[in-house]
Amino acid sequence: MRAHWGILGIFVGLVAAEDGLNGWLRYAPLPENLRPSTTKLPSLIVALNTTETSNTPVSVAAKELQAGIQGILGTQLEIATEATNTSIVVGTIAAYSDKYRELNASLLEKDGYWLVKKGAKVRILGQNERGALYGAFEYLSRLARGDFSDVDIVSNPDAPIRWTNEWDNLDGSIERGYAGPSIFFRNGGIVKDLTRVAQYARLLASLGLNGIVVNNVNAKPEMLTEINIDGLGRIADTIRPYGLQLGISLNFASPQLLGGLSTFDPLDSQVVAWWTEKTNKLYKRVPDLAGYLIKASSEGQPGPLTYNRTLADGANLFAKAVEPHGGIVMFRAFVYNHHADWNDWKFDRANAAVEFFKHLDGQFHDNVVVQIKYGPIDFQVREPASPLFANIPNTNMAIELQITQEYLGHQDHLVYIPPLWKEILDFDMRVDSKPSLVRDIVAGRRYKKKLGGYAGVVNVGTNTTWMGSHLALSNLYAYGRLAWNPTQDSKALLEDWTKLTFGHDRSVLDTITKISMESWPAYENYTGNLGIQTLTDILYTHFGPNPASQDGNGWGQWTRADGETIGMDRTVKNGTGNAGQYPPELAAKYENIETTPEELLLWFHHVNYTTRLSTGKTVIQHFYDAHYAGAATAQTFVTEWESLRGKIDTERFEHMLFRLKFQAGHSLVWRDAVNGFYRNLSGIPDELGRVWNHKYRIEAESMQLTGYVPVKVTPSETGSNFTAIVVADPTTGARGEAVATLDVSPGTYDIAINYYDVTDGRAHYGAFLNDEPLLEWIGDLEDKLGHAFSTKLDGHSATRIGIEGVELRKGDVLKIIGVVDGIERAPLDYVSILPAGIVD
Ligand code: GCU
Repeated sequence: MRAHWGILGIFVGLVAAEDGLNGWLRYAPLPENLRPSTTKLPSLIVALNTTETSNTPVSVAAKELQAGIQGILGTQLEIATEATNTSIVVGTIAAYSDKYRELNASLLEKDGYWLVKKGAKVRILGQNERGALYGAFEYLSRLARGDFSDVDIVSNPDAPIRWTNEWDNLDGSIERGYAGPSIFFRNGGIVKDLTRVAQYARLLASLGLNGIVVNNVNAKPEMLTEINIDGLGRIADTIRPYGLQLGISLNFASPQLLGGLSTFDPLDSQVVAWWTEKTNKLYKRVPDLAGYLIKASSEGQPGPLTYNRTLADGANLFAKAVEPHGGIVMFRAFVYNHHADWNDWKFDRANAAVEFFKHLDGQFHDNVVVQIKYGPIDFQVREPASPLFANIPNTNMAIELQITQEYLGHQDHLVYIPPLWKEILDFDMRVDSKPSLVRDIVAGRRYKKKLGGYAGVVNVGTNTTWMGSHLALSNLYAYGRLAWNPTQDSKALLEDWTKLTFGHDRSVLDTITKISMESWPAYENYTGNLGIQTLTDILYTHFGPNPASQDGNGWGQWTRADGETIGMDRTVKNGTGNAGQYPPELAAKYENIETTPEELLLWFHHVNYTTRLSTGKTVIQHFYDAHYAGAATAQTFVTEWESLRGKIDTERFEHMLFRLKFQAGHSLVWRDAVNGFYRNLSGIPDELGRVWNHKYRIEAESMQLTGYVPVKVTPSETGSNFTAIVVADPTTGARGEAVATLDVSPGTYDIAINYYDVTDGRAHYGAFLNDEPLLEWIGDLEDKLGHAFSTKLDGHSATRIGIEGVELRKGDVLKIIGVVDGIERAPLDYVSILPAGIVD
C-alpha cells in the first residue's frame, strides 16, 4: 500500500533541492557530455559603457555573464578592459564603435542586439544598453542549454511595448494572484526591502520585457501620495539597471478622492492642472517613468463617462500630461455594462469594446495605446480574437494576455497557455480582405503605427515559485519570449524553458513537454468546450465549476442554456450582431453555422443539445465525452510526473506531484459537475451511461453515520447525489463517524475519498480499515495550495484524496472519522472503491 498524499519526504533526490527563486536563470552546471573543449571558451569579459561602480544594464550584463558562466561551466572569468580573441565584449554598438572600429549596425532597432560568437570570441552589442543586456541573456541561455555553436544574429523586438501588469494592491494583497502577497506593497505603502523586486526584474529582463505596471488596474488614489511617489521611485531605481521602466495604474477619480476637488471631469481645468502637477512630480522622482495604465468607466471604476465625456477625452487627459516627459498611456478597452439586461436577446457584452471605441478611432493622442484583452469577454478558456483589433486602424493597440490563471485553474491546475495565445496572435482578421494577423496589428506593422505591443497580467507573489506552482512559470517565460518575437513556436519555447529550469534529462524534457502541451486541451475539455467559456463560478472565485452562474445576471458571460438549447446567438440575422463586428470574410464565416469552427460553435450560435457535430455526435454527447476525456488526461499527468521521481530535485518534484494530484481530483469534480448540470437541464442521458451512474461509489450520506448529518450542496451538481455530510456539532473538536461495510470481491483496490476543503478551518480526518489506520489527513489545502478559494461546500472546495493498492475483502469495514476545526465541519461527499485501472 502506498500513501497518496502522505508526508513522503523519505526519498532523497539525486539533485539538490530548489525553491524556484531563480526561475529559468539557475545557471546549473552543464553535464559533462554537453560541454565543449575548454579551448573554445572565452577567458575574459570586457564591459563597455561602465565604470566599476556603475549599476546600469551593461554592468548588470557583465555580472550576469560572470555568474552565469561560473555556474554553467565552473569557470571564473575576469572583468577586463581590453578585448582579446578569447573575450566576451558586451556594450552598446556606439561604445564599441568608439573604442574599436565603426560597425555597420543598420539592422539594429531600438532595444535590439547583435550577437556574434566565433569560437571563443564573443561580441554582444546592443542598439542601446538594454539591448546589450538582452543579448547577454540570450548568450547565457544558449550556454545553459548546451548550445555552443557559432552564431551571428541580429535580434530586434517585434514591438516597443513589452510590459507586465501586476494587479497588486497597496495593502499587499493581489487581485487574482495565487502566490502569496505582493513583492511591491504592504500596509498601504511600498515595501522597504526590494530584493524580490530586483530578482523579478532580472527574470523579466532575461526575456526582453521592458516595463512593469506595479499596481492593480482597480487602482487606489493613495498610490499618489508623496510618500508613495517616493516609494515608487525606489521601485523604479531597483528595476532600472535591468532595463525595466515603471508604469502605474491610476484611479480616474483621484483629483476628487485624493486632491479634494469637487470633480474629476477630464475637461475641467482644475482637474487638468491637478494631473499635470502630479505627473510632473512623478517624473521628477522617476524621470524614465514609462507611463500610465488606465481602467476607466469599467466594472464600477470611475471614468470620463460619469461626465458624459468620451473615453478618448479620458485617455487624452493623461496623454497630454505625460507627453512632455515622453511617457505613454495604456488605456484599457475592457469597458462594458455589467448590469446588462439578461432578458434582452440582442444584448451582448462581447460587442462592448467595438461599441465603445470604434467611433473614437483617430481621436486618441499619438502616445495613447488601447490595451485590448485577447478575446471579447474575459480571458476564457476559448474565445475568438477580439473584433476590436479590426476596428480601430488609426489607433495604437496592444494585446492584453493573462499569465495568472484566473479562469484557468489558479495555478493549481497545470495549463500551459501559449498555444491559446498563439491561436489569437496568429489569427488573421482579414481587414480589407488583406492579411491582418493580430500580432502584426499589435506590433503596429499592419496599420503603420509607431506604438503597440504586449501587456501580460502576471501577478507574481512572494512565494519562491513566483506564480505558486513551478510549472506555471513556463507561462511567464513564454509570454516574454513571445512579446519579443511572436512567431516563435510555443512547444519550442516550452522545451527551452524546461531545459533551463529542470536540466537536460531527456525523459524530464519529454514528460514536461507532453503534459504541458496536453494541458490546455484537457482543461478546455473538462471545463467548457465548443466555445461555451470556462463554466466556472463567475460570481465568486472563478475557480471551480458552476455553470448556472453564467446566466441570469447582468455580467454578460451568458450561455443561454435552457432545457433544449444552449449557446449565444451572435449572428446578425437573429442574434446580437457580434459576428458582424468582424471584417466581412470573418463575419460571413461566423454568421453561418456550417462555416463556424466547431470549437466556437456555442460562442456564435444557439443550438439544440441534439444538434449533430461533424463527428456525428450530438452537442450534449460531445459535452459528456469531452469532460470524460479531459479528466482522463489529467489523471495521466500524475503518472507521467511520477515517472520523473529521482530525476528532479525532491522539493520541486513533491511540490508538483501534490498539485498534479489535486488537479486530477479536481478535474473529476469539474467533469461530474458540468455533466451533471447539463444532464439535469437537458434530461438527455449519456449514451455511454456514465453520468449519474457511479457504480464504484459509496455516497457518504448512505454510510452509517454517528455525529454526522447529511447536507445539500450548492450548486447541487458539485455534490455527488447532490448531498454531502458534515459533523452535526459545529464546535471545534467535535467529531463524527461514517462507516461502510464493503461489498467487494477480494482484490487490490484504490480508495478515493471526496471531501470539501474550505478555508478558515483545518479539519482532521482519519480513514480506518477494520479499525486499522489507513490514512490521516487535514483539510488544509488553503495552506498547501497557498491561496484561499471558498468558505462553502461547492465546486471550489470539492476535492479528493486517495490511497493506492489496498487489499480488500467482502465484509471489510471502512470507517472515516472527521473532527471539526473552525468553520470546517469535516465535510465528506463520497468514497470510491476502485479496481485497478479505474478512476471514478
Ligand atoms: C476580470 C477580473 C477582475 C479584473 C478585471 C479587469 O473581470 O475578474 O478581477 O479587475 O477582469 O481586467 O479589469
